[in-house]
Amino acid sequence: MKLTSDEQDTLQGNHGEAARLAMAVIVDIGELFGAEELIPVSQAHIDTTIYMVDAGVEFVEKLCELGARFSIPTQLNPSAVDLQRPEKLRADGEILEKSRRLERAYLKMGAIPTWTCAPYQQGLVPMFGEQIAWGESNAIAFANSILGARTNRYADLMDICVAIIGKAPGFGLHLTRNRKAQLLVKLADIGSDRFRDKTLFPLLGFVFGELAGDRIGALEGMPKDVEVDDLKAFSAAAASSGAVGLFHIIGVTPEAQTREMAFQGEAPEKTLEITSQMIQNAEDRLRTTNGREADLISLGCPHYSAVQFSRLRDCFAGRKVHDSVSFWVNTSRSVYSWIENSGVLQELEQAGVTVFVDGCPLQYPKKNWNFTVAMSDSAKFANYCFSQTGLEVAFGSMADCVETAVYGKIIRRGLSWQQS
Ligand code: F3S
Repeated sequence: MKLTSDEQDTLQGNHGEAARLAMAVIVDIGELFGAEELIPVSQAHIDTTIYMVDAGVEFVEKLCELGARFSIPTQLNPSAVDLQRPEKLRADGEILEKSRRLERAYLKMGAIPTWTCAPYQQGLVPMFGEQIAWGESNAIAFANSILGARTNRYADLMDICVAIIGKAPGFGLHLTRNRKAQLLVKLADIGSDRFRDKTLFPLLGFVFGELAGDRIGALEGMPKDVEVDDLKAFSAAAASSGAVGLFHIIGVTPEAQTREMAFQGEAPEKTLEITSQMIQNAEDRLRTTNGREADLISLGCPHYSAVQFSRLRDCFAGRKVHDSVSFWVNTSRSVYSWIENSGVLQELEQAGVTVFVDGCPLQYPKKNWNFTVAMSDSAKFANYCFSQTGLEVAFGSMADCVETAVYGKIIRRGLSWQQS
């Protein structure tokens, strides 16, 4: 890889040991992937925020001790816990202590404490064509696909190195030629009227991700008047069932206003179809429980927006969560303060809803709770729930989750086309 004299200096340690270490990692990865040069990136979103193993904490602390500072605006993905209300979460002492160590190190290095996996709905929202370095699969897919910003799928620890240097190896999705769609994905028997059922978005994303794998797919047939929270649900689901870093939706996403644009004037390598039966099968696979009981409703994967909270309040319509159910919603600190200021938070709390900030619902230590079955409106959560938390799971719409919480029995009204 061709390096400038300043980059060579950094690699030789002339700008300090922390920068040398970060540059060495970036150069190694760049050479591994055939990058010709480093390119400046304007911001970073760090995914190495959830305490998993001690090595992750020690790596961050080591860089911090060596004097590392982020050279570009850098924001943070969720922590393992609610750092502001750990006692409410009954957070495990050791996990909280390790999370605090990560927090101290990141703040010292200059991170903005966003602690959210929906950074595209607040904070540092990148512009079309902006070169960035983001971790967190749903955020990466959203930034590339919906915003038209450019990031590779930055892995844990690599994201920190790029944030220190402010440059990334120029390969993959940073380059125009690599953003061309490869697969054309058509909807066989799913008309635009079916998108009135909002559960179609996460389920469709889930099926799309499975079909695409690590290829770039272009979906044809979604109506243009789609809402941003629905695209968020699609994106998170697709990036959980496949290694999806970028997708196009023809007529919707910015690099795919036409089919020709999506494929950069070339023909699709392959054309695939998604049927309503495949959507139904996906929903069936996202339900692991055969029973009617659910004791945890978990929303906010990715973190809920202010609009989603308003809709949730409307779904309750003055009713309350059943005694046998806990109703948790995850969001960011900024959305929390918006709903607190608007009074929506207080209405939801009166209904029995608990809103957590900072954390990821899949990472919360469950050993201090006796939950057995969770229900969520997120296909990503439902996809990972059993393997990551040990809880059985059911998928449903936001309204289904509220009805389940109110009556204490799983209520799933099914996909709208099943009812006609
Ligand atoms: Fe966010 Fe955790 Fe879901 S990081 S997207 S809430 S798995």
